[in-house]
Amino acid sequence: MNNFNFCVPTDIRFGKGQIEGLPAELTKYGKKILLVYGGGSIKRTGLYDKLMELFKDFEIFELPGIEPNPKLSSVRRGTEICKKEKIDVILAVGGGSCIDASKHIACSAWYDGDPWDLVLDRSKVTKALPIAVVLTISATGSEMNSGAVISNEETKEKLEINTPLLYPSISVCDPTYLFTLPEKQTAAGTVDIISHVFEQYFQPNDGAYITDRLSESVLKTCFHYGRIALEEPENYEARSNLMWASTIGLNHLLTVGKGGAWSVHPMEHELSAYYDITHGVGLAILTPAWMRYVLCDRTVDRFAMYAENVWGITGDDKYAAANAGLARTEEFFKSMGLPAKLSEVGIGSEKFEEMAEEAVRTSGVASRAYYPLQKEDIVKIFEMCE
Ligand code: NZQ
Ligand code: ZN
Repeated sequence: MNNFNFCVPTDIRFGKGQIEGLPAELTKYGKKILLVYGGGSIKRTGLYDKLMELFKDFEIFELPGIEPNPKLSSVRRGTEICKKEKIDVILAVGGGSCIDASKHIACSAWYDGDPWDLVLDRSKVTKALPIAVVLTISATGSEMNSGAVISNEETKEKLEINTPLLYPSISVCDPTYLFTLPEKQTAAGTVDIISHVFEQYFQPNDGAYITDRLSESVLKTCFHYGRIALEEPENYEARSNLMWASTIGLNHLLTVGKGGAWSVHPMEHELSAYYDITHGVGLAILTPAWMRYVLCDRTVDRFAMYAENVWGITGDDKYAAANAGLARTEEFFKSMGLPAKLSEVGIGSEKFEEMAEEAVRTSGVASRAYYPLQKEDIVKIFEMCE
């Protein structure tokens, strides 16, 4: 097992009604809150009214309209409010998009130049406002990690800023907030969790046995409860298991003792940067093609292990087992109602070369991935998804 540091300072408040304790916690930081939310779901579900009642003794400034795949322009708007109003704490209510925008705003509030500078050069991040989260979708794990993914609409770049200063201080994870999720978001969010685990699981092991077994449990949880959540949106057991899977899927627990660069996420981030598609949808399209492309004598043992431990597929022929595991994964994505081809989301081959080049430029996929992928490999994977 490789050496590791594991320090996740986020206070998780999990379960029904946990929001009631949030005002007392936020008082510690002050009374001026920047409330960051999306396109209106929190107004439709009644969560907004609940917050207004709970925080009636606070001074609330609002930043609505955070778009899925949050944009730099929204971060700039939020940063201006923080500076002008001397905000004490940012409250993100929503999913990864609101949380990520809030994280970027939190550090930009202490920076004199343009927020994008901080994405390009993390050493410029020296301080951040405290961030609180009320999570409404199980997907990214942003509620308990230090990453924020922001899209620069001018340059078509979608890049991550990641520093320990960006861990949320507190995250309320109430599974009943997931009851109102549209089917597409339930499906895409579940695939995102699965993909996060894959990115960490399909890496050399060197003895981190415990980490692989934990990962398999999270994968089984997603495969088991994903369909149930789609069929019964108000099934608390399914929603609560998926919500916790989202959090531990990307709070570093499943990467300890291992390491390596990710593969499918850098490719997907190009799709959502260029075409603004839903992140989990892009992952559902790319993942089976990536699995097929990298399956070889060097990787087959791990793919067969995945098939056996997650799907119960056994047999002497490792390739047959690995391929059966791959097929089950692909079937699951389809059964969640997600597209399987880029053409289904309106993406043609025009930008394949450009996106592949960007994926290599902006990530470690070509040098440090489980199966390093060069630009030509990525173009071929995109072509497999046409
Ligand atoms: O905007 P509103 O109206 O709130 O609607 C949202 C949005 O349209 C809706 N929604 C959320 N909760 C709901 C709900 N609708 C009804 N009821 C609810 N309870 O769902 C839509 C998607 O929300 P979004 O926040 O975009 O989803 P998600 O959590 O999947 O976040 C995606 C973003 O996070 C990035 C992605 O690239 C993408 O930009 N990621 C962030 C990561 C991180 N910070 O660690 C890692 C990931 O790999 C990912 O890259
Ligand atoms: Zn993801």
